[in-house]
Order: sequence, then C-alpha cells, then structure tokens
Amino acid sequence: MCGIVGIIGNQPVAPLLVDALKRLEYRGYDSAGVATLHDGKLDRRRAEGKLINLETELTSTPLEGNVGIGHTRWATHGAPTQNNAHPHFCEGVAVVHNGIIENFSEIRDELSARGAQFTTDTDTEVVAQLLASLLRSGKSTKEAMLATLNIIRGAYAIAVLIEGENGQIIGARNGPPLAVGYGKGEMFLGSDAIALSPFTDDITYLEDGDWAIIDRNGVEIFDIEGNSVERARRKAFTAYAQVDKGNHRHFMEKEIYEQPEVMSHTLAHYVDFSSGRVRDIASEIDFSSVDSLKIAACGTAYYAGQIGKNWFERYAGLPVEIDVASEFRYREMPLPGSQAALFVSQSGETADTLASLRYCKEHGLKIGAIVNVRESTIAREADVVFPTLAGPEIGVASTKALTCQLSAFAALAIAAGRARGTLVEDEEVNMVRALSEAPRIAGSVLNTIQPQLETLSRELSKFRHVLYLGRGTNYTLAMEGALKLKEISYIHAEGYAAGELKHGPIALIDENMPVIVIAPHDRHFEKTISNMQEVAARGGRIIFITDENGAAASTLETMSTIVLPNVDELVMPLIFTLPVQLLAYHTAVFMGTDVDQPRNLAKSVTVE
Ligand code: G6P
Repeated sequence: MCGIVGIIGNQPVAPLLVDALKRLEYRGYDSAGVATLHDGKLDRRRAEGKLINLETELTSTPLEGNVGIGHTRWATHGAPTQNNAHPHFCEGVAVVHNGIIENFSEIRDELSARGAQFTTDTDTEVVAQLLASLLRSGKSTKEAMLATLNIIRGAYAIAVLIEGENGQIIGARNGPPLAVGYGKGEMFLGSDAIALSPFTDDITYLEDGDWAIIDRNGVEIFDIEGNSVERARRKAFTAYAQVDKGNHRHFMEKEIYEQPEVMSHTLAHYVDFSSGRVRDIASEIDFSSVDSLKIAACGTAYYAGQIGKNWFERYAGLPVEIDVASEFRYREMPLPGSQAALFVSQSGETADTLASLRYCKEHGLKIGAIVNVRESTIAREADVVFPTLAGPEIGVASTKALTCQLSAFAALAIAAGRARGTLVEDEEVNMVRALSEAPRIAGSVLNTIQPQLETLSRELSKFRHVLYLGRGTNYTLAMEGALKLKEISYIHAEGYAAGELKHGPIALIDENMPVIVIAPHDRHFEKTISNMQEVAARGGRIIFITDENGAAASTLETMSTIVLPNVDELVMPLIFTLPVQLLAYHTAVFMGTDVDQPRNLAKSVTVE
C-alpha cells in the first residue's frame, strides 16, 4: 500500500526522498511523487508507474529544497495517473496520504458548494482543500490541522507541507503506521523503519489519533484534542538496516533461501533443543483454561492459521475457529465462555486483522499475536506477542514469514498439548526433536530440488490454468500454492481439497490444465492417490509432489514427480511449502513478470 516519507535535511532532499521511497516499493504502488519547499515555495514532480519514471522527471527538471515529502501511491480512489499521484496541492498546502478518507465525498460536496475547484479523482485532495480553506479563514497552522483531523473520518497516515512554515512537516496517524525519525540537526518521517533505516534508527511511532509538528529541532506530538502527548523513542530493530537482495535476482528468491536460517531462529525462540521442551514463552496464554480458540488473518498468514488450527485440534484437543479477517470482523459472532484469540500477520498492520483483534479485545478475550514486525500496531495491541524472527520480508509473495509463522504455531500447539494433558513428555520431546531437524532438511531440499523445478516451471509457464490438490495440511498448501502462482505469474490457479475434486473441479480436467498434487506418504495418502487416478483417467497431467515413501508407493504416470525426503508429519508443511514456493517463483521468472512487486498487489494492506 501507499508509502510516505518526509525529510527536513541539510542538503537537497529530492534524491533522498526517492531513495527512501525505493525502500517502500515492496509495499506495492502504481505511481509516485515528491514535493519540496524551496525559498518558501512548494514545487512537485509526479509520475505514473515505477519510481524510475519519477527519477526521469527529476533528472530533466530537478527539484531544489532541503525540506520535502514523498509518496508511493497504491490507487484506491481514482486511476493511477500522474494527475492523481500525490502530493496534492492546494493554495500553498501539499499533502500525501496513505489510507482512505471515508467521508471525502461529503467534504468535497461542501467545499465545492463554497467554490472549491477539485482537480483530481482522489479522496486525498479533500485534505489539501480543507486545510487550505481553514488557513484562508484565518486559523493558525496548528488550529487548521486540528480542525481538519476532526473533520476527516477514516484510516490515514498523512504528511503535510505548508508554504510559510518553511522548516516544518506535519504528520498525522489514524490507522496506517507513521514513524518520526531523529537525526543530527535533521528530522524524518516515514511509513516504517525500513524507509528511514539509512538516516536513523532512533524512532518514535505515532499512535492512532496522534499528529505531530516536526521541525529541525525535534517534534511535538498532539492528540486529537490538541493536547501535547509524550511518546516513547526507541531503537528500530537493526535487521531493518540490511535490506538488499544479496546475490539473488529477486527478494523473493533471497527470502525463499533464507528460510532454513530464519526458521531456526524462530524455532530457537520457542523451543529448547537440548532438553527437547517448549520454552515458557509459548505458555503465555493459559491453554488449559480455554475451551476454544479463534484465529483470524489474511492471505498467506491465514493459511498459516489454518495449519495452526489443524495442529491445535490434533495435538491439544483444542477446538479452533478460523476465518479470513475481512469476514471475521463483520460476523458479529458471539464469543461466550472462556476463549483466547490468535492473530497472524507478517506486517502487523493489516487493517482487517487489526479490526478482528479489536473485536475480540472488546469481548474480553485474551489476545495473542503472531507477528513479524515487533513495533507494529497488532503487536502493540495484543496481550501477548509471539514474534516470528523472519527479518524484513520485502517480496510481496510471502515465503519466509509463512514458515516462521508455522514454526511458532507448532511450538504453541505443543505447549497447548502439554498444558491440556494431551501430550506426554516423550511425545513433546519427539515433536521438538522433529522440529529441530526442519531447518537442516529445508536447507538440503532447497539445494537439491531447484534444477528440476526450474525445468518444470518452464513447462508450467505455457499453461493458463492450474489446479492444486491436497488433503489435511496439504489442502492448505494447495491453496497457498495456488495463491503464490496466481499472484506472481498471473496464471489462474485454484487450490482444492482433493476430496472435493468430484464436486466440481473435475469438470475442468483436460490436458490443458495441469494438476499439482501435494501428497507425502501420510495418513491421507491412499485417498489422495485415488483422486490422482480420477485425474489421470480423464487425461489430466499430474505434477506430483511427494516424499520417498510416496514415490515408491505410486505407479501413476506423471508429468513430473518431485520427491522430497521422508519427514515427520508435524514438519511436513514446513518442508512441502518449499517446492510450492519455488515452482511459483521460477514460473513467474519465465513469464517475465515483476516478481517482487506484482501488478495491483500490496505487501502491507492498511485499508480494508
Ligand atoms: C497481502 C500480502 C500477502 C500477505 C497478506 C497478509 O496480501 O501480499 O503476502 O500474506 O497481505 O499480510 P500480513 O502482513 O497481515 O501477514
């Protein structure tokens, strides 16, 4: 989603703003712009598409000025044209905005009736127009900003420049994150610590309802009533400083290959490999006293939750209800008895997941959050944070965040099993031992399967439709595989429970629709093989992802069989997701798509 950056510097800031915007590219965007204040005057450059277009604009007509704001826009209201790109200007006011102003049409009608001329299709322009009209009416900058924030409704992070307030940037937050960064005689504003990482790691996160006046000497933060408030300064996690692709072609490839390492960091946080026991942190929710668990998340994090559900029910006898957060938040479900809720999010900022968390909090549930960004809103609002130690994930398609979320879920399910008496010590030790081997196995799988998957991906890139099938946790991986493939290669893909094949998708089977079957030799194997027979009998081409025992037990002819080592059933999702990721990755590379920033998608979805 949109990214915001602001700099009060000691040199021309336009190139620095563009560099900072590059670090926000991963969030997803379709146009960009910067504005600066120079000699008391505002000026801007904006461009459709990628930042390279904005850089070309800036090269042909450079922008001077040591104070400026920049923006990458992910279009919500109005097409991603140059004219709709931020910053929006009105009578000496410049505004960039992330989020949605829900009452924008009401405000626009009112201002239009009083003669305002709107020049864009965006909701953001009303903020610039409103602020300008309040300043025109004689209000001071502070009064006008406060009045504006009390009129607009919705989710927003905003940065403002005003002619006359020449060394100053105003920021406001109600929903999407916004951080103030402290430098030496310089100040910064940004959507996240990654944007600000080369400038400073000394940061204050604004809270919802906060707004701030920043100048070279520091920042003053106010609440929505205009009272001065204190917010903590903290060090951003250092990992954010090192965000580059290394020797990899894409962030996604790098992140896939980082998984053995980050999986082991995450596992080590939750389990003690030497004693074979789960650490106390995993018991911070008293699983013995809850009758059921609610889980909500979006996208790939939702699939992590589905596998988590499977484990909590199987190993801890704990019933789990899970829903995508965009449905969960509006279901008005009763939450009786003793329940806890878990929310899963890489970014910790996903608007629907956050709203679901707040719903459960209002109903008195104990809230746990499995999050990757520890300073995020979801982390801050949870009672207990279960961190994933994946490090910054930049590729839009989530890979290492998923395996780290699964690592945390596995430990939590074991902790719940111990607390509820469904797992005895020996079982816990065996499960922890199995988990401890997962990073090593993941490493050897990644090192061996890549050539076969690359060849197969070339074939797969010729098809327009692909079906994924699986049972149990492999049904979830089938949906995750379909999501990965469609989001980065734009090939239409669907993930189905293998048992549902006969209830619809079998009608689609022919030689033009490859069927990817994820079936290690687990308790579902025989049944899934029967479903594969049904596909083969109708001329379907099968790509079979299995383990050594599964390959030995099947005589079916396939387009390709990918054989992974035999692993413990608990560990299977952590390992079997790897070929699924690589298949999508290499297919997208053959298709020539923008792997790390696929069209229309955003990494951090801060609007609903
Ligand atoms: C977007 C991203 C996905 C991610 C989902 C949930 O759709 O493109 O990769 O799985 O949001 O994001 P979260 O940050 O809450 O895990």
